[in-house]
Amino acid sequence: MPAELRALVALLAALVLVPAAAAAPSVKQGEHLYGRYCVSCHGMNGSGVHPARQIGAGPGRAQTQQHVVAPPLRGVGARAADFYLRTGYMPLQKIGLQPRRSTVIFDEQQLRSLIAYVASLGGGPPIPQPHPERGDISLGQHLFTDNCAGCHQVMAEGGYVTGAVPPALENATAVQVAEAVRIGPNVMPTFSRNQISPHELDSIIRYVEYTKNPDDRGGWAIGHLGPLPEGLVTWFIAALALVFTCLMIGKRLHGE
Ligand code: HEC
Ligand code: HEC
Repeated sequence: MPAELRALVALLAALVLVPAAAAAPSVKQGEHLYGRYCVSCHGMNGSGVHPARQIGAGPGRAQTQQHVVAPPLRGVGARAADFYLRTGYMPLQKIGLQPRRSTVIFDEQQLRSLIAYVASLGGGPPIPQPHPERGDISLGQHLFTDNCAGCHQVMAEGGYVTGAVPPALENATAVQVAEAVRIGPNVMPTFSRNQISPHELDSIIRYVEYTKNPDDRGGWAIGHLGPLPEGLVTWFIAALALVFTCLMIGKRLHGE
């Protein structure tokens, strides 16, 4: 290999390898970021903070845990860290606020490091890998109507419940839906694998993906009303066309 070519190959390899190395998560960096952005609420090593040690307590992890300012993070695992950080729910601005989707202040490497650090605090579930393509959309719609629509509305456009605002799901990725269902953030219930099996979860995710682009299935954009009203509109137009045809035939017969 000529020297120039070798230099070029080395340069290309460096260009490819350097960003890959930079994106490697580091628990140490995660710990550092945690100390800066999270420790005031979640306590040393994710032990949680109790109102006795902090004035001005607000709602905690769930209504049943309101005596805790911020929940302990030991054992919540990479799953919860990934969900709360990539949605921008965390760092929460102020105790007492409901976590809402907002701009993520960390870059990819910082995210991975923080997630690795939270996971290192003590086991916990990994980030899920859902397969919505294996799901069944009508099963998903059925399950979503039964389990989720009471809060998020049938087309996942969000709603209101006492004490919280269930968000619209248009920005939730497949992984985030899988995470939310198992975590049950805020007042949302936690659904176990017994309540919603992995296949049922894939189906729910497939339905949620469908609600983002309901027209993709070939239906009409008449306000996302679904197949029944769409069918009715078709009938209505067909009926009008029929009346029109009859009128035209009538005119011909009368020789006008
Ligand atoms: C202002 C206080 C505050 C700050 C700062 C904060 N959190 Fe939180 N965190 C909370 C509260 C309160 C909850 C519970 C929210 C709920 O369920 O409504 C929470 C929940 C969480 C959860 C979910 C825990 C579970 O039981 O599933 C994770 C993970 C988390 N925070 C990570 C972080 C990380 C990482 C940071 C720093 C980047 C951070 N938080 C910064 C207050 C805070
Ligand atoms: C009791 C009401 C309730 C029910 C039932 C419920 N959720 Fe939620 N959900 C919420 C609330 C409230 C939040 C916001 C959580 C927060 O702020 O920490 C949420 C958040 C989410 C998110 C994150 C969305 C985002 O972009 O921020 C997803 C995804 C989600 N829910 C999916 C579901 C699915 C799927 C079901 C049914 C299996 C379901 N939820 C059932 C109330 C509910």
